[in-house]
Amino acid sequence: MLIHEKIAAQLPSWRERVTRLARDYGEIVIGEVTIAQVYGGMREVRSLVTDVSFVDPETGIKLRGLSVPEVLKKLPRPRGAKTPYVGGLFYLLLVGEIPSRAEAETVEAEWARRAEVPDHVFKMLKAMPRETPAMTLLSQAVLALQGGSVFARMYQEGMKKDAYWEAALEDALDLTAKLPLLAAFIYRMKYFGETKKLRSNPRQDYGTNFARLMGVPDRKSYAELARLFFILHSDHESGNASAHATHLVGSTLSDAYYAFSGGLNALAGPLHGLATQEAVKWLLSVLDTFGGVPGRDELYKFAWDTLNDGRVIPGYGHAVLRVPDPRFIAQLEFARARFPDDDLLRLAGLVYEVVPQVLKEQGKAKNPAPNVDAISGTLQYHYGVREFDFYTVLFGVGRALGVTANLVWARALGQPIERPKSLTTAMLEEAAKT
Ligand SMILES: CC(C)(COP(=O)(O)OP(=O)(O)OC[C@H]1O[C@@H](n2cnc3c(N)ncnc32)[C@H](O)[C@@H]1OP(=O)(O)O)[C@@H](O)C(=O)NCCC(=O)NCCS
Repeated sequence: MLIHEKIAAQLPSWRERVTRLARDYGEIVIGEVTIAQVYGGMREVRSLVTDVSFVDPETGIKLRGLSVPEVLKKLPRPRGAKTPYVGGLFYLLLVGEIPSRAEAETVEAEWARRAEVPDHVFKMLKAMPRETPAMTLLSQAVLALQGGSVFARMYQEGMKKDAYWEAALEDALDLTAKLPLLAAFIYRMKYFGETKKLRSNPRQDYGTNFARLMGVPDRKSYAELARLFFILHSDHESGNASAHATHLVGSTLSDAYYAFSGGLNALAGPLHGLATQEAVKWLLSVLDTFGGVPGRDELYKFAWDTLNDGRVIPGYGHAVLRVPDPRFIAQLEFARARFPDDDLLRLAGLVYEVVPQVLKEQGKAKNPAPNVDAISGTLQYHYGVREFDFYTVLFGVGRALGVTANLVWARALGQPIERPKSLTTAMLEEAAKT
């Protein structure tokens, strides 16, 4: 397999770099931890390492060193399409190089041959009560696939440590291959009561398949969005909750299914993946209040009313970023090029002009600019995907690409089980005296 060969060729030099750092420079201090950080969700504690992506506060996510505009420009596209192959993005995350069109297509071909979902998974999903949250269904479906883990089987058979990453790569490809179909099945079953088994079409790329399986009216254009969406949501370095949860579970040598199910459970939390739906709800409440897109002054007052009510403006602010999120900009540009007159989009654009000023005047948010969630739902809404709690499932499908690429490299570089040290309150009080 191409990706396998490409990673294998790089491994000796990566292992040498990492071994050398840990062995010869292990005592070098790269940060300190304060009591405020211990109580404050470990913000800014520098304790993780990944080469797959890095969030630069001033420019946003860099995927293998490339900015969002660079990634979107350089990755190969399906013929006649405007947005790149998702397979090309997965290649980039795994291998660290922009693939040629043929290389991107080899990943798409790998996915095509691994896309089939076993019957028991559909049966399990169908047996769940209709009101089961979409994220619960997705996480369960991922766990239901765990019995097929190559890593788990080979580990039982006594696989050597050097080979862990190859088994992890098999699982990463198998799992990501099945996710679009699983997500679409959950969508149709949960919201429309359709339980017919779905099949992937091996002649269609990841995004085109997904658009067809979802059954949205404008499939061609939605396929463009699906590719963009999955690419933009793939990775945001290692410290965010879904990536970190996946990494932590994987560090015990649990396989990719166990690990990613854990990551999805983190993504399901209101403080993580839920902001997309909150942002759309807020935009719709503006449209509802004013009977359409309001004027600038009306919006300014509405935003202040939200803050004065003690609520946040969803989609704005970020723990790390200090500029408008390039993932927001990419989706705004995508939408403006295709449906500039859509009311929700026009409103999202106006909010982008007005809300940063409001947040600056309030003076609390460290970053008054929009994050990706300020716009993602607006695009889904336009294409008819209006079941808000499904947006986190879409996020999960994209996020799988980043976290499984990280799992492969964590196993390749022999990263150990994670085990930070905890202290007691009395110990911190004692430290505070000194
Ligand atoms: C993303 C978010 C959770 C980051 O949190 P954070 O790192 O603690 O952000 P900050 O350090 O800038 O927060 C400082 C203060 O500004 C407030 N603030 C930040 N973003 C805000 C927003 N969009 N609207 C109102 N107030 C905001 C915080 O609530 C906090 O107030 P407090 O001191 O009363 O607790 C936060 O900006 C937020 O709640 N945004 C809205 C929800 C959202 O878009 N989430 C998606 C994240 S990708």
